[in-house]
Amino acid sequence: MIAVMPLTLLLSSSLIVLLGVAPSVADAASAEVRSENANDIGSFFAIDIEDGALSTSELITKYGYPVESHEATGADGYVISLTRIPARTQRHPRPLLLVHGLLASSADYVLIGPNNSLAYLLADRDYDVWLADMRGNRYSRRHTRLDSDSHDYWDFTWHEMGYYDLPAVIEYILGQTGASQVDYIGHSQGTTVFFVMASSRPEYNEKIGRMYALSPAVCLKRVRSPPVQWLLQNIDALHELFNALGVHQFLPHLSSQYGLARLLCPMTDPENLCIQVVSQTVGPNPKMADMMAMQILVGHDPAGASIKQLFHYAQLQRTGQFRQYDYGRRNNTLRYSHWNAPAYNLSAVTAPVTIFYAQNDWLIDPRDAVDFSKLLPTPPTMHLVEDANFNHLDFTIAINARPMVYEHILASLEERERSNDSGRKRAR
Ligand SMILES: *[C@@H]1O[C@H](CO)[C@@H](O)[C@H](O)[C@H]1NC(C)=O
Ligand SMILES: *[C@@H]1O[C@H](CO)[C@@H](O)[C@H](O)[C@H]1NC(C)=O
Ligand SMILES: *[C@@H]1O[C@H](CO)[C@@H](O)[C@H](O)[C@H]1NC(C)=O
Ligand SMILES: *[C@@H]1O[C@H](CO)[C@@H](O)[C@H](O)[C@H]1NC(C)=O
Repeated sequence: MIAVMPLTLLLSSSLIVLLGVAPSVADAASAEVRSENANDIGSFFAIDIEDGALSTSELITKYGYPVESHEATGADGYVISLTRIPARTQRHPRPLLLVHGLLASSADYVLIGPNNSLAYLLADRDYDVWLADMRGNRYSRRHTRLDSDSHDYWDFTWHEMGYYDLPAVIEYILGQTGASQVDYIGHSQGTTVFFVMASSRPEYNEKIGRMYALSPAVCLKRVRSPPVQWLLQNIDALHELFNALGVHQFLPHLSSQYGLARLLCPMTDPENLCIQVVSQTVGPNPKMADMMAMQILVGHDPAGASIKQLFHYAQLQRTGQFRQYDYGRRNNTLRYSHWNAPAYNLSAVTAPVTIFYAQNDWLIDPRDAVDFSKLLPTPPTMHLVEDANFNHLDFTIAINARPMVYEHILASLEERERSNDSGRKRAR
């Protein structure tokens, strides 16, 4: 029951946000927020409370790194924003592409500041770092033809991100840098879209040095999160509701959400509503949660998604099948010339993969990560995070994310260069 209360509040606040009531509430709240004394709360990280209100590029600039903005346009017209921290030298052979999770953004890789966030750790070692923002989130809402307020714009799921956006992004990065491969790091949905691409556009496997999959979201059989279980159980009713309301977006980013969240979830209260909702969703790990980082996070996430993305995940969870979106028998036949939605052919994934997974991840159960690894034609390198309390979100903002995960990625990158592993040999 504990979980249901915040969930109800979350859903009602989402609905309020969706219906556009929130901005005025938040404006009224902002005066009070300003008087909250954030300085009383320190942080483990070199970050400060203003960071929740800055964009990814503004954060990178603030912390003294060079930043460039780029765009790649996929074959179906969606324009994907890319944020680059260029390398000072050409020491490393491959650029790094970092892809965020559901309802998140490129900011996930810089939120916990220098010396801790993965993007900065890579930049410090002179890697060429590219952060993608998948279609429909706050930074990637443009299309060559469609208006981002139109129904047609929002008619996509993570299938199109993997099938159109990632190939366009990879081609763009290779074109800009002259490299022949990128190394890929994805968290959660950032891994789902990768495996969509690698199975349905198999020619792109050749363009990947190694894929580092943080909490891979392909097998979802054992989701432990009570709010997510509730969502899954009520998905049909929600589908009806959203259809009736004509809502295509799920939790779009609002400039006022930071003010609202700070009012509802004061940093001084370690059991505030946001912390409860988040920990019931991703798995509780209070010792490794930094209160300021958690506060800043709600300025950035949710960053927007399509309703269809959620339904596609619900289908994946319900059927246990990694398949394209299921439109029902009749419409599947029209679209796919088959009653069933086509399955992604994971046998075609030849890019080398390293999987990081965590015991206290309430979205991607460790057994699901292991089950997934068995579907790949070449056994991936498996890395179970040492901290038994590590959760789904800890991959992004835990106090110990650096030693538990990022140091291992850095070591793997260095090791591969030392042994002159072109990235292809181990896959064969
Ligand atoms: C990062 O860590 C180094 C030492 O490891 C320290 O000299 C530097 O000041 C730190 N930078 C920040 C921004 O905390
Ligand atoms: C099938 O497609 C039609 C036309 O696009 C639509 O009106 C109908 O609701 C769809 N049926 C299902 C079950 O999705
Ligand atoms: C799946 O991919 C493998 C490897 O590329 C291929 O041999 C096989 O025919 C594919 N299966 C289907 C059903 O397309
Ligand atoms: C690394 O391997 C590539 C081919 O895989 C080769 O062309 C290159 O010369 C090698 N570099 C070194 C330093 O051994």
